[in-house]
Amino acid sequence: MTVKSEVLRLLESHRTEYISGEKIAESLGVSRAAVWKAIHALTDDGYNIEGISRKGYILKEESTLLSKEAIKLHSSNDYPVHIYDTLDSTNRQAQKLAMDGAPHGTLVIAESQTEGRGRLGRTFFSPKGSGIYMSVIIKPTFDMSESVLITAATSVAVAKAIEEVCGVSSDIKWVNDIYIDGKKVCGILCQAITDFESGQIGNIIVGIGINCTTEAFPEEIADIAGCIPGSFSRNQLIAAVLDNLLSICDNIEDRTFIPYYRSHSMVIGKEINVIPRDEPPVPAKALDIDDNGGLIIEYEDGTRTVLTTGEVSIRIR
Ligand code: BTN
Repeated sequence: MTVKSEVLRLLESHRTEYISGEKIAESLGVSRAAVWKAIHALTDDGYNIEGISRKGYILKEESTLLSKEAIKLHSSNDYPVHIYDTLDSTNRQAQKLAMDGAPHGTLVIAESQTEGRGRLGRTFFSPKGSGIYMSVIIKPTFDMSESVLITAATSVAVAKAIEEVCGVSSDIKWVNDIYIDGKKVCGILCQAITDFESGQIGNIIVGIGINCTTEAFPEEIADIAGCIPGSFSRNQLIAAVLDNLLSICDNIEDRTFIPYYRSHSMVIGKEINVIPRDEPPVPAKALDIDDNGGLIIEYEDGTRTVLTTGEVSIRIR
């Protein structure tokens, strides 16, 4: 680690109190001049650091740049983290890294995306600095038939992280959109990469887009999109999402996350429209979530079926 990243790590871990240059120098075993140089380099990078004589330095609350150091500080995992200013899509970049052998748990983040991908061929609005656009490489050790569970598992990981870090409870709209106060604050896109030789899924790219302070949504999503209320650190939220996701994936076959998924579902018991791709909507009632994350529904003629995470979406009536 460089002096600059060590200084940033110390400032991140002293978010609520000033820390003197002398103390920083002492705990890192470097000169005061080296600390001063590092503080200047961090300020040049865009970190908002306040320095007050005889008190020391503090990372201001509004200093919200994404940083590896801050994510690692809050995370209990130590997998590779790649942060980019702009990418076309973090899922696409994670896919490339996975093909080049990046390990399980690798995290790819961008401050903005120019072609953020959504489900069913949609795009995901990804303006600079106000959201979280992250993708995690998962090497499934579980059976291929279990891999559909990952979408439901990811919703639980995100909802739990929002609860832990932002203190807000959220609702999960099947299959994996997260809502707060009736507005969509997060979308999830999981993509499997099949190994040609074995025919097995070698990697799953779990893509997560969260609106944190996003304003001025494009007209077509202005009615449904929203942000997480309150102020919080994006780095801390990213770390919590990652930790929750990896821990659920470790025991995904146990399905211990399903009760949380059910209890936070905003569709169970609701009248819905089932919208198959390129076909007109069909009215139905959402009855329950099964142990695979499938949505059990009843059509108006009384027939029941389970919707799995395929090319179908639903809308609450
Ligand atoms: C949806 O709501 O339809 C899913 C949106 C998923 C968006 C995220 S943002 C990070 C990752 N990279 C992408 O290109 N898409 C996902």
